[in-house]
Amino acid sequence: MGSDGAQGAADDIVELTATVAVAPGEDAARILVVDDERVIREILAEFLTLEGFSVHTVEDGEKALTELRLHPYDLLITDLKMPRLSGLQLLEKIESERLGVLTVLMTGFGTVETAIEAMKKGAYDYLLKPFKVEEVIHVVERALYRQRLQTENIRLREALTIYRVSEAIALQHEIDKILDVVLHAAIDEVKADVATLHLLDAKTGEFEERVKVVAQDMTSPHGGMPSPAFGVLTQQFSQGLPILAHGGKASRFFTESSSPEELSSFVAVPLQVRGTMVGVLNVFSFTTAKKFDEGHRKMLAVLASRAASAIDNARLYGELVHSNDSLRAANESLEEMFQQTVAGFAQALEESDLYTRGHSERVAVYSEILGRGLTLPDAEIRRIVQAGMMHDVGKIGVRYDMLNKPGKLTPEEVAVFRQHPEKGKRILDPVPCLHGLIDGCWCHHEWWDGGGYPRGLQGHNIPIVGRIVAIADAYDAMTSDRAYRRALSHEVAIGEIERCSGSQFDPELGDAFVKLIEAWRKEMRERGMDSLVPK
Ligand SMILES: [Fe+2]
Repeated sequence: MGSDGAQGAADDIVELTATVAVAPGEDAARILVVDDERVIREILAEFLTLEGFSVHTVEDGEKALTELRLHPYDLLITDLKMPRLSGLQLLEKIESERLGVLTVLMTGFGTVETAIEAMKKGAYDYLLKPFKVEEVIHVVERALYRQRLQTENIRLREALTIYRVSEAIALQHEIDKILDVVLHAAIDEVKADVATLHLLDAKTGEFEERVKVVAQDMTSPHGGMPSPAFGVLTQQFSQGLPILAHGGKASRFFTESSSPEELSSFVAVPLQVRGTMVGVLNVFSFTTAKKFDEGHRKMLAVLASRAASAIDNARLYGELVHSNDSLRAANESLEEMFQQTVAGFAQALEESDLYTRGHSERVAVYSEILGRGLTLPDAEIRRIVQAGMMHDVGKIGVRYDMLNKPGKLTPEEVAVFRQHPEKGKRILDPVPCLHGLIDGCWCHHEWWDGGGYPRGLQGHNIPIVGRIVAIADAYDAMTSDRAYRRALSHEVAIGEIERCSGSQFDPELGDAFVKLIEAWRKEMRERGMDSLVPK
């Protein structure tokens, strides 16, 4: 309107009703009025404030631009003809700087063509002077409705992004992969040039850069990346203050030595786990026209919160894996100790009996051949092997001279000798981890037909470990030298096992053993080994 003068400007608004001014609420829509005519500014401000809007006025396009860069507005109502920066030029700046405000132009009859041209360039609507109250209300409300729709659309898009990112990070258990997903989302969603994520090192108390993502079309800053001053950031976060700054105003968030001259806009949001800060997400723009706003900051805050809980989960997962590993290692070392204990007992036994040297180990091998041939579970086979090693542990308590006596034992000596299965059980009883081996020690002299000792058990009442070790023990005893006789041949020993199957031995196990031991010997011969029996 420019040249019409103050009286003309006052005439532009008719039917203005005087009403008591009411201060707008905090959530009132924010409107910026730009006109070089003071009266127009005042009248529009007063009238729109009465309607419940939060109104700010400036007199030219330059000042409007400064105001828009500093504060968020929902609507801009601007005159077309103004000194310094015209309404059209202002519109172009708003578009190029992506200031994201809806614009309504005010124009007289003479400039309607220009107003229409402006709409083609992105203005939302125009008001023809002189305007009526209901026209202004109608245009403003329509514009704000459109603005709300746009905001809601953005929120919906943000919600979708957060959902997508949440889903992606929920699948990850590795912290660096989670951070990578979050930073790429940050870059994509707020059109940042660089995003970095620093995590607090619990040991040093320092923030360490874990991930940095640079936008594809980004031109790197000549002065290098500014380094965040984490002391300042932490203090700001602890007071609940947002960190969103543009240009030189951002410099207080960086260390003195770093150079943020080229920085256009900066946002930092905390990563918090159960109220404790564990990291910071920093987002940078080095492009003059690219400035972050409060919406961007909030979006990044939600991303950071998702990242923090995912990191927490990943750490818990990592700790769980670690504690499982520790548990596994402890079990393995326990198992090793167990094996050493078994080997120690077998060694103690063999120390006392030269003729049975290697006997326990061979019985363990033959027991394993039979156990595997019967396709028993691995755990059961391990127990059988250990029981084979330990089966004669009760002989530790039998006199050495009696064990190695060349001639026949007296009935008294036989009675003492026959106590060894019982003694074996008594040796193992106080050691809970060796209980699984008791059956092998206690029952390896039981007979299938009930004629064995110490309890005279019969058939399947004899634990399978006992029945297996009995056959392995007998085979090795026959095929190795003893104090009272020379070793028998394999064939003779096999013949004895066949003969005694059904009386001394479980017939099914006896048959199986004969077949399995033949196959095993064949395999040993093919490998160039004769047998386990010592020469
Ligand atoms: Fe024995």
